[in-house]
Amino acid sequence: MLHVGPDELLQSLHWGPRLDVEQAASLLEQPEPRSRSVEDPADGTLALSPTGGYRYAHAGLQIRFADGTRTLDLAFRGARVEGQDTLVLSFEDRCHPLAVEAFFRVVADTDVIERRMVVRHTGGPEDEPFEVLRADSATWVLPGLEDYRISQVRGQWAAEHQLDRTRLPFGETRTASRRGISSHHANPWVMVDDGTASEQVGQVYGCALAWSGSWELVAERTGEDRVALSLGADHPGSRIALAPGEEWPTPVCAGQFTHGGFGAASRAWHRYLRSHVVPHPQELRPVLYNSWEATGFDISLEGQLALADRAARLGVELFVMDDGWFGARTHDAAGLGDWTPNPDRFPDGLAPLTDHVHSLGMAFGLWVEPEMTNPDSDLYRSHPDWVVHAPNRPRTEVRNQLVLDLSRDEVAAFVHDTVDRLLRENAVDFLKWDMNRPLTEVADDRIWSAYVRNLYGILDRLRAAHPAVRIENCSSGGGRTDLGLLARTDQTWISDNTDAADRLHIQHGFSQLYPAQVMGAWVTDSPNPFTGRTTPLAYRFHAAMAGVLGIGADLASWDEAELGRAASLVAQYKAIRPTVQQGRQYRLRPPVRNLSAVQYVSADRSEAVVLAFRLERRFGRTDPALALRGLDPAARYREAGTGRVHHAAVLLARGLPLDLPADDRASNLVHLQRVEHQP
Ligand code: DGJ
Repeated sequence: MLHVGPDELLQSLHWGPRLDVEQAASLLEQPEPRSRSVEDPADGTLALSPTGGYRYAHAGLQIRFADGTRTLDLAFRGARVEGQDTLVLSFEDRCHPLAVEAFFRVVADTDVIERRMVVRHTGGPEDEPFEVLRADSATWVLPGLEDYRISQVRGQWAAEHQLDRTRLPFGETRTASRRGISSHHANPWVMVDDGTASEQVGQVYGCALAWSGSWELVAERTGEDRVALSLGADHPGSRIALAPGEEWPTPVCAGQFTHGGFGAASRAWHRYLRSHVVPHPQELRPVLYNSWEATGFDISLEGQLALADRAARLGVELFVMDDGWFGARTHDAAGLGDWTPNPDRFPDGLAPLTDHVHSLGMAFGLWVEPEMTNPDSDLYRSHPDWVVHAPNRPRTEVRNQLVLDLSRDEVAAFVHDTVDRLLRENAVDFLKWDMNRPLTEVADDRIWSAYVRNLYGILDRLRAAHPAVRIENCSSGGGRTDLGLLARTDQTWISDNTDAADRLHIQHGFSQLYPAQVMGAWVTDSPNPFTGRTTPLAYRFHAAMAGVLGIGADLASWDEAELGRAASLVAQYKAIRPTVQQGRQYRLRPPVRNLSAVQYVSADRSEAVVLAFRLERRFGRTDPALALRGLDPAARYREAGTGRVHHAAVLLARGLPLDLPADDRASNLVHLQRVEHQP
């Protein structure tokens, strides 16, 4: 509920439980008690918060005019409704040629409001440009709560999506990525509750930015104990000059209020993502095999054929050849940018491999990293000026590579045309689109944003021209997991850490916002090549079966017994896949104590899947029964495999006995199917 009063500021009157129009309008007659403070009562409560006036809270809109003025004096110019669902509020500065439009889209069948802003220079040729210092997509004002607690994820490479829940301190809490990617270190979303919400109970406010570049969140708790969340794209500190006639659009920031604790909040976000963001939500994601951990850069046609044969035996549906197939890419210091098959490794091109994979009944996927070049590549030798760099400064190499400056249209056209050609000339059904380093030496502030917009443009054009091709989003693991790329890719690689025990934590954090349907998860070898931890095959499978199952192990080294067990686990996954990928997720127990478990229930409640993992067993204690969620309480459910029948009411009230073996790394998968419903 928004209000523009006599001061013409955009005040947020209510964000929270749903009100109908009449109820909402009644808020205008019952304003919140006016603050007795001598401060400006609007401070910290504005949904569009420009600098200026007697206000000092974080300003989501900051401009510097040519004469040095940084204050804005916005007058309300009107409201219009676009389509059926979008309210647009227009403002103009009283003395400078600047207009602002604030968009509020009510997303059908969800509680999500998508917000964005456009800043426009409305002057003529005689007017000077002005600089946009900051244009947050949205400032979300929370109601007064007893206390405020903030939930976010933090991390690093191989440890993405670590959930962090902590009391919001007074002042400004900033979370950001300054890397030109949404980053492994933080993720552009936040949730806030009053400190009492649990997985099942409580009100949760949240917002997420649809952006894959640099971003910043300011969560401010004012002296008056009010909280606002301001979330925006671009590089903090950058200055974007807008000339007369130019405009600066922000990406979408989606926000929603939910009842029912963090579990319901996540399910509401999953529902929104699956119904409005992710492409092809009705399609089941295939079981894939990826060769990276098996071969590294040591790729050969024979090796890939042999892996494909074994993968097909397991029931794999999509075979993906990873890095090392092109140019001089026999290690990570050469070849990026030269996207033709390595002539020593694939003298007859990719056809012998793609044909073979297809003849085995699998789709074929190919790794690419089109935004990059190695200095040791033909591309870089021909176009050394195409990389992001600052003149007369050393070019920082990360993993021996430099970033192509996608903000330049000719470079973006090259990247598009290269991938387009690859798809036209080869029988490729799936791309793993990787991006293995952040941006450095960004000499022009416009690059941060233009890079991301051109990347989106490339993906949009490729998808339109190749509608059958599916894309996996990857950035050195989960460096670019965000709503912006999830709208343009079909699944995402969330971490290079494939250790099942670590993965439970990463998946737990990922699931706070993102649905299992887009969460790629591989079964790899034990001991894990990165962490050295030993885990049983079933444990590794069960962890990966909580998302989009993949296999990334060196199948050449697996014996017949392992291959046989793996094949039956893949078959089991196919039976539970619709429920995992398209059902509702309930986090039964987080991966913090002795036992962790997650449950999925199909939309019609006829199927449920429970995946339980022992983290450690202490003092010989028995496992607690797992109280399930979301079942049809009047029904009975039969366990596939054992045939055991349970009353749903008992499973909900008392729980499912787990019968896990005694080992520390024991796990179990229980697939429940409704037998009958007793009205
Ligand atoms: C980083 C990815 O996350 C890995 O899965 C793999 O594709 C390597 N890049 C290849 O260089």
